[in-house]
Amino acid sequence: MTSMRGLNPDDLTVQTLFNVMTGSIVPRPIGWVSTVDREGLPNLAPYSMFTAVCARPPTVVFCPSYQPPHFKEKDTYQNITHSGEFVINFVNDDTVAAMDVTGADVPPDVDEFKLAGVTPVPSKLVAPPRVSESPIAFECKLHELITIGLTSGGGHIVIGTVVYMHFAEGIYSDDNHIRFDKYKPIGGLVGHTYAHIEDLFGL
Ligand SMILES: Cc1cc2nc3c(=O)[nH]c(=O)nc-3n(C[C@H](O)[C@H](O)[C@H](O)COP(=O)(O)O)c2cc1C
Repeated sequence: MTSMRGLNPDDLTVQTLFNVMTGSIVPRPIGWVSTVDREGLPNLAPYSMFTAVCARPPTVVFCPSYQPPHFKEKDTYQNITHSGEFVINFVNDDTVAAMDVTGADVPPDVDEFKLAGVTPVPSKLVAPPRVSESPIAFECKLHELITIGLTSGGGHIVIGTVVYMHFAEGIYSDDNHIRFDKYKPIGGLVGHTYAHIEDLFGL
């Protein structure tokens, strides 16, 4: 039998908890979230605390944290609280480097589309633009916000209903499946470490 190391989360620092949570729960998809502020300026940032919830209504969650050094809400969260809309842009081998650039903590008036050199294109049903270079994009309307904590390491759950989906040419197959060989998704591990998802096997 393997000897296991036991840890009580209450004994760990916030940084260690972050390392343990993000290092254990892998790989995570990355929701590259576009929003607009009150003036309509676009914002783009990656969130790896992100996943699907259910199929009908198609529902996603992602989690903007509330953490040092600023103890302030992320621009993405603030934009969603007033607009109620966002786009989840999906990340693959071709867009991972640009996505990583948009993880930088920059002032709200910096347009991360320009920073990362990606192209905003108008969405169909929501105000935030989507990333033209992304292989898949889901337009979302806010379903509910849940606050988990407003202390160091805390944050929110943003629950969104997908109201429109975009797939790049060839990714959506004739038999209604996603073609991974065309999609070329990546997984988020810890920090700025990512994994290619190409060694697939079936059971
Ligand atoms: C790969 C990656 C994943 C990230 N995941 C999260 C996350 O799940 N939650 C979070 O609060 N910040 C996450 N970040 C950090 C935010 O992207 C970063 O704080 C960004 O500046 C937030 O931008 P905003 O204030 O424009 O929303 C991640 C960064 C990277 C590079």
